[in-house]
Amino acid sequence: MSISKAAGSKIASPKSIEKRLRIERLVTVNEIVTFDTGSDVIQGLTQTPKTLPTRYLYDDRGSELFEQICELPEYYLTRTETKILQQYASEIARITGPCELVELGSGSSTKTRIILDAYQQLGYPMLYVPIDVSAGILESSARQLLADYPSLQVHALAGTYELALAKILPSELPSRLIGFIGSTLGNLTPQESDIFISQITNALQVGEYFLLGIDLQKPKHILEPAYDDSQGVTAAFNLNILEHLNQRFEGNFDTTQFEHWSFYNETENQIESYLRSLRSQSVELHALNLTVNFALGETIHTEISRKFDLKIIQQQLTARGLVPLNVWTDPNQWFGLLLCQRQA
Ligand code: AVI
Repeated sequence: MSISKAAGSKIASPKSIEKRLRIERLVTVNEIVTFDTGSDVIQGLTQTPKTLPTRYLYDDRGSELFEQICELPEYYLTRTETKILQQYASEIARITGPCELVELGSGSSTKTRIILDAYQQLGYPMLYVPIDVSAGILESSARQLLADYPSLQVHALAGTYELALAKILPSELPSRLIGFIGSTLGNLTPQESDIFISQITNALQVGEYFLLGIDLQKPKHILEPAYDDSQGVTAAFNLNILEHLNQRFEGNFDTTQFEHWSFYNETENQIESYLRSLRSQSVELHALNLTVNFALGETIHTEISRKFDLKIIQQQLTARGLVPLNVWTDPNQWFGLLLCQRQA
């Protein structure tokens, strides 16, 4: 384990890191059954049109590719949200006061640091609760954060958002801020998103906070390149879902025989991503005892990335007891950051 230079000038020792780190694994039998038996894959690939659950995009390679996407010139989302956070993090910290920071889908936690820095500068106690399905990612990014912030405590929850939100205990600090940034809400259907927002409401006490980062509606010519970049990283990210299935279910998808296809659906206000078969072909997933036939040009729908209207989302949040206190955007109004408070 490395000892890194801490924020400020202190050094966090490995021993102090162990003492400040708790990782809890939350898994239900139902999740083990659907994820490991692939019943959701069978269902998606045997229906018309074919679909795959978006979560299969994120194996180790998929998560790595997503990190690369965040750096792409066309993928303005990460850059824009980061700038908004840098500008307003201290205002957020002043509004919430000392509070536990819960983050859904923590990933590499680059943006989290901006918020932690703001809490640290105000001398608040720091308790970070990252939630992610990957225990490996949680542990490595938690250790890095603990090395860099000597007064930070991390209580990581490895599991789905639903499970973690349902099991989370009342905050040990005076308040709680649940952060869901990066526009991941856009990857949920409107129905899933409604359920999810209610789960957030239930996980908060009256007076506690929800920080939401969302990508806003904008012209097609800006949106489409963000999901089909010139270096082909997004294509590799989407095609990797097939490699993931090959590995997980002993499959023989040939990724050279599929192509990435995405477009902005202006009626639904969402980017839709697909994989399109370049020939008529049959694919086996041996571990699932499944043969899947594809016609030339047939697609598998892998992801939606919804784009939001600030007025509408504020109404939806308010209707679920999460009242927006502040809404920040960038000068182009491309991305929105909303700080909401749970009302009775
Ligand atoms: C994680 N999520 C918000 C990304 C998005 O923009 O929908 C995933 C992604 N898919 C393709 N590029 C990025």
